[in-house]
Amino acid sequence: MSNENFIWGVATAAHQIEGAWLEGGKGLNTWDVFSHTPGKIANGDTSAVACDHYHRYEEDIELMAQLGVKGYRFSIAWSRILPQGKGAVNEEGIAFYNKLIDGLLAKGITPFITLYHWDLPATLQFENDGWLSYETAEYFAEYADVCFKAFGDRVKHWMTFNENWCSAVLGHGIGCFAPGRVSRTEPYIAAHNLCLAHGLTVQKFRQGDWGVIGIANNCDFREPLTDKPEDKAAAQEALEFFYGWLTDPVVFGEYPAIMVERLGDRLPKFTPEQKEMLKGSCDFLGLNHYTTHFASREKPTANLVGGDEGNGGIDEDQQVFLSRDPDWLQTSNGWFVVPWGIRKMLNWVYERYNQLPIYVTENGCCVADNDEKSAISDGFRADFIRGYTEAVVQAREEDGVDVRGYFGWTLMDNFEWAKGYEMRFGMIFCNFDTLERTPKESYYAYQEIIRNR
Ligand code: NOJ
Repeated sequence: MSNENFIWGVATAAHQIEGAWLEGGKGLNTWDVFSHTPGKIANGDTSAVACDHYHRYEEDIELMAQLGVKGYRFSIAWSRILPQGKGAVNEEGIAFYNKLIDGLLAKGITPFITLYHWDLPATLQFENDGWLSYETAEYFAEYADVCFKAFGDRVKHWMTFNENWCSAVLGHGIGCFAPGRVSRTEPYIAAHNLCLAHGLTVQKFRQGDWGVIGIANNCDFREPLTDKPEDKAAAQEALEFFYGWLTDPVVFGEYPAIMVERLGDRLPKFTPEQKEMLKGSCDFLGLNHYTTHFASREKPTANLVGGDEGNGGIDEDQQVFLSRDPDWLQTSNGWFVVPWGIRKMLNWVYERYNQLPIYVTENGCCVADNDEKSAISDGFRADFIRGYTEAVVQAREEDGVDVRGYFGWTLMDNFEWAKGYEMRFGMIFCNFDTLERTPKESYYAYQEIIRNR
């Protein structure tokens, strides 16, 4: 495949970089509330200022231009557009994203918008029960329509949701993410409404002429631990419980059969009309991918990852044990560096979803280092990027997978959700006291990759 329709980019998310939490007419969202709740975020960090991108976006666009990326994936903060999540539009919010979009286009950088990267307007959480309620899905589609009409003349690449798995499992199962709910059934209800919200939104999208739309779901790869049929089945089922759960509905209009069978009444059902609405509702698939594990049906005798009995909740529902190769390198947040995993993952997605085009909408590496001098010498991250981008190119050029782009996570160190500012993923160092940005070694390594490819 030629390089013509392949785009190199970087990704960020509104809540992780913008700051200005009480400015520009923005309403509060669930992460504003969560990050100001004592005990929820490492070191008591909050997202109030983050990278202050709201005021420094021009400098950030310039840094992207210097990096040489041709694409930028960012998200819109719903509560900047509709402070209450519904009702009145905040023109200041529209104006901010207009300036950002126009600034990107002026530098030849194509905007890829994610409509929802976890920052639900707080009113919808407290008055409407958030994603546990179908009403939130309807409000989301209305918000999305406001965005299509405001930005769709210039923005032609859209994603409804980022990592619905995390909203469902971390937000409603384990409770380490906003809104902090702990339950064995709520993840399935939240996921159901998120899928329906995608469907309702795409219906509106297709009434206009605003380009293409997809979804950015995440998945770690699952490699069978052995050649035994039961381990191959375990790996396949684990992928279906992870990526398939949130992606099968928006491509096929159904949940994976294994989930229907195993979960019984705990898995909500789509009506025939909803299935029709959801079927074929992605023009492309986004893949956020960070790591790989081995999967087996029996508990392995060594190198187990996760708890002895799995991690409870959805992990238990899968009936799969995860393990690792002791030689795999690990990032600061414990994720294994396995470049071949992304290649296999891309092949799996391509095959399962009937050759829909794919974008790697996130991939990156955490190195916890607050000392600027040593943090900018991030050879570990540079190697990570070299390894993973090489594997993506192999998937495209050698395996024929229609991968259309790679968005590195992330442009600059930012608010890493419950981990606060400690876990840094940026190619640019952000000093959270002065807000000064300094490119790291990985920035230049990525610049080189872009230049050569
Ligand atoms: C996925 C999420 O989309 C992003 O917000 C997060 O910072 C990265 N993974 C790293 O954990």
